[in-house]
Amino acid sequence: MPPIKQHFKVLETDPGSAARCGLLSTPHGDVRTPAFMPVGTQGTVKSLAPDTVKELGAEMILCNTYHLYLRPGHGLIASLGGLHSFMNWHGPILTDSGGFQVYSLGKLRKITPEGAIFQSHIDGSRHRLTPELAVEIQEALHSDIMMCLDECTPYPATFREAESSLSLTLSWAERSRKARADSSDQALYGIVQGGMYSELRKRAVEAISAMNFDGYALGGLSVGEPKAQMEQIVQETAPLLPADRPHYLMGVGTPEDIVKAVDCGIDLFDCVMPTRCARHGLLFTNAEKVVIKNARYREDNGPLDSECDCYTCRNFSRAYLRHLYVAGEILAMTLNTLHNIRYYMRLMEQIRNAIGCGQYAAFKTRFLESRLKA
Ligand code: GUN
Ligand code: ZN
Repeated sequence: MPPIKQHFKVLETDPGSAARCGLLSTPHGDVRTPAFMPVGTQGTVKSLAPDTVKELGAEMILCNTYHLYLRPGHGLIASLGGLHSFMNWHGPILTDSGGFQVYSLGKLRKITPEGAIFQSHIDGSRHRLTPELAVEIQEALHSDIMMCLDECTPYPATFREAESSLSLTLSWAERSRKARADSSDQALYGIVQGGMYSELRKRAVEAISAMNFDGYALGGLSVGEPKAQMEQIVQETAPLLPADRPHYLMGVGTPEDIVKAVDCGIDLFDCVMPTRCARHGLLFTNAEKVVIKNARYREDNGPLDSECDCYTCRNFSRAYLRHLYVAGEILAMTLNTLHNIRYYMRLMEQIRNAIGCGQYAAFKTRFLESRLKA
């Protein structure tokens, strides 16, 4: 068994739920959990400078193996000193393995036991991504946390389909573990698949946790299934994960999803939602979801969100933000993204505070009730 590469300590557990606060230590600093990682697919959190991302309160970001492998290439990034120095983000970075991006290519991919064969979305060139290559790329990027190559089981899938997809993910997990250099200071997380089948999820946790990864992720969720089904899988599966390791729910989600998943003991999240919504002029507040292009904001001189302490809310009116968006100005992207990321960061701070005072169950109830009204 490889030694554990990174220290994770559960600091506080909520008496009324499975929520917990923890501290994850990486070579590029500590992350307070539960944490949300802004998505920086191509080595940038779109429209924000890395200093701004840090000032907003983000402690770890997510980048994508698939994109950086295709462009500009992991060899180039390694030769220029690794991803942290290349993008000038010196905090922790988690890299996703490419499993989900390859899955998202649809017709442009073929899965074999050896790996995934796919065509580049950029120039159509053919590539083969194996578990070994995914580790090699992530080692070249030198992220703090690497993810195993997995197959994101499509939805819907029959039991047999989900079962054979899972056995592929399990064999790739074992190959990823063997491929990782013993001397590495990078953590490697295993991914639990199994579709929407409780029995397969249980089997996946047993097999993956026997491989002794530094952390454990739930994958294959938020892929088109009804919300209730995702919630059920998280509720059933999260308690089975080794309690002394970080629990990461991949690609989730809305503020409500996050609040509910923390209740089940999830520690890490990532999602394009705050950044992508911002670029489409959809802005998060506790009172309402603001569609900034709406004519009702034309003469609205008030701040976007009176509860928010971000640069956008402190300095600009809704009328101005609407004007920038409608005029297609670049600054709209930056100011909107800045606010949405800050909204998510403040949510995570509130979550950690509630767990810290043993009041998480009450916080969750209050939050979900207020969202129903919003
Ligand atoms: N991001 C969201 N879902 C998934 C998943 O199932 N696998 C991987 N690798 N990344 C994801
Ligand atoms: Zn704001």
